[in-house]
Formats: sequence, C-alpha cells, structure tokens
Amino acid sequence: MDLEEKAKAVLPPAVFDYYRAGAGEGISRDEASAAWLRWRFRPRLFQDVSRVSTETTLLGTRLAAPVIVGPTALHTLAHAEGEVATARGVAAAGSLLVHSSRAGRDIESERWWFQAYVLRDRSLTEAQVRDAVARGASAVVLTADAPYVYRSAVPEAGSAAPENRPVERRQDPALGPDAIGWLAGISGLPVLVKGVLRAEDAVAAVEAGAAGVVVSNHGGRQLDRAVASADALGAVAEAVAGRVPVLVDGGVRNGADVLTALALGARAVLIGRPVLWALATGGAEGVRELLDLYREDLARTMEQAGVPEVGAVDGTLLSDR
Ligand code: FNR
Repeated sequence: MDLEEKAKAVLPPAVFDYYRAGAGEGISRDEASAAWLRWRFRPRLFQDVSRVSTETTLLGTRLAAPVIVGPTALHTLAHAEGEVATARGVAAAGSLLVHSSRAGRDIESERWWFQAYVLRDRSLTEAQVRDAVARGASAVVLTADAPYVYRSAVPEAGSAAPENRPVERRQDPALGPDAIGWLAGISGLPVLVKGVLRAEDAVAAVEAGAAGVVVSNHGGRQLDRAVASADALGAVAEAVAGRVPVLVDGGVRNGADVLTALALGARAVLIGRPVLWALATGGAEGVRELLDLYREDLARTMEQAGVPEVGAVDGTLLSDR
C-alpha cells in the first residue's frame, strides 16, 4: 500500500487511474486481496527450518521464488525504459516476466513468456507470436478472459467513451479451446491458459493441450463480480490434479498470500499492479527490490509455518477457521 501511495505521487493521474482501474464498480478488484485473508495457517512443529528454500522450477525455468511478474500493458507509461527496465529487474531477482502483447517496448531476455490474445485476424496473432519466439520467449500465455475490452482497460480512452460499449474489438469473441493447439503449433512452445475460474474450464484447457493454467479474474478489470481467484483456486487445482502447473494471480501482496496460494495448489503466483508501482518509483532496481521483498517475506513465513521448501507445502497447512 505504501508503494501504491508513492506511485500515485509520481505518476500522472490518468496513468495511475488506468493502472489501478477495475471494471464496473470495482468489486472484484477490491475483493481480491481480502479473499486471501480468509485462510489461516496451521503451522507445523519440529521441522528443520534452519535453511528454508523458496527456489522452484517452472516449465524448465529456475526461479528464486514462486513469484513471477504477470502481464500488464504499457510499462512505458510508468518508466521511460518501460518493459526493458522491468525485464532487467526481473532477471536480477531470478524471476520471470510474462510480457503483455500490449507492451510499450519489445524485450529480449532468457526469462520471459509471451502473453497472447487471439485476434479475429489470426495472421496478426501469428506474427506477434513468431516475433516473440524469435526474441527468446519460452512459453505463450493465452489470455482467454477478455472477449471484449472496455474503457477501464484502455489508457486515455477518455471519459466520453460509453462505459458499456467495447472500445477495443480486435480480440476474437468466439475463441475456443482449439486456439491452444494452434498457438502451440505456430510457436513450438508450451501454452498456458490465463483467466480460468472454473474447474471444468481448466480440465478442458488441459485436454486441449495446455501446459498450465492461470487462475485469474484479470485483476477485476473484465467481469466485475467475477469470483476472487483465491476462492476459485482450490477447485481448479483439485480438478487439474497435478497434470500441469496451476498458477494464480489477483491481490497477492505478501509472503503469506503466496504461501496460502501454494497450499491451495498453486505452483506459483503472478503479481500485477505492485510491479507497476515499483517500476514507476524505482525503475529496474525498484522491480528487483519488490521481488526480493516477496521472496524474503515468503521465506520468513515458511520458517514460522514449519515449511522448509516450497515442495513441502500442502493443503493441510490451511484452516478455513
Ligand atoms: C492487466 N492485466 C493484463 N492481463 C493480460 O493478460 N494482458 C494484459 O495486457 C493485461 N494488462 C493489464 C494492465 C494493467 C494496468 C493491469 C493492472 C492488469 C491483468 C494482469 O495480468 C493480472 O491478471 C492482474 O493485474 C493481477 O492482479 P494484481 O496483482 O494486479 O492484483
């Protein structure tokens, strides 16, 4: 919250409002963090936590912690170097960047996945994906929860744009699970599906070849009153049953939130807005510091909860009170 206040002080108001925005009345955006707080830990005793490790591997990428940077558009509005600075901070922290297809700058790095929308004109999507492959992306994240894009999700769309009509219609609103195999075919990369909130959708994605699913309500920016990802995660992870990694985003703000997500079955979390605040206030170094803070806070929480390594987390760690 401190970081958000600092970002508010340095960003132009229109940019801050765009980053912070939620759809509709902002109900899903505002509920996201609180949903993690409904869980309580049942700490384990007599575990050797003298050397806690937060390290993990995700689809072949070694991570310092199960915390990666989610796709958010237009980092150039926060910092002159935009995504180039973000990618540098991410690499320094041993994390991974999911690079938005609405990014302000292209990046080249060994630690990034490309977020794709499937557009009505698939040749545009194909060109974007091939370019991402050429620049070293190691996975594609298909965002499936945005059939139409509304004002709150577009910077400077202007208050004259009606709230209830899409301002961006390039995305294919008839998207089906066949898009997963198509993206895998053109990229030769694993494809994850982002925006999953129902167990049966996760199963359909896995059956269509998805290499992972991301439980998300898009930061509350698409369907207001969509269920909090913290509340949807458990059932999705249970249905996926370890076949592919399940990731989650939405309101993950500290190490206790991360540990809760792992205990509910996530392999890693993504963070969105805090990275924008860190980039705006501290550039690449700010992003690195933020990710280090998540990692250290997770390690401290694991020590107190009796969890020596992330692979040792399971559902028995949690009590719903
Ligand atoms: C987003 N998000 C998003 N998702 C996506 O798949 N493609 C995109 O281009 C964007 N753009 C975007 C812009 C901004 C300003 C925000 C805040 C979010 C959604 C994002 O990936 C993620 O789901 C949420 O932001 C996670 O929630 P928190 O951590 O912001 O609460």
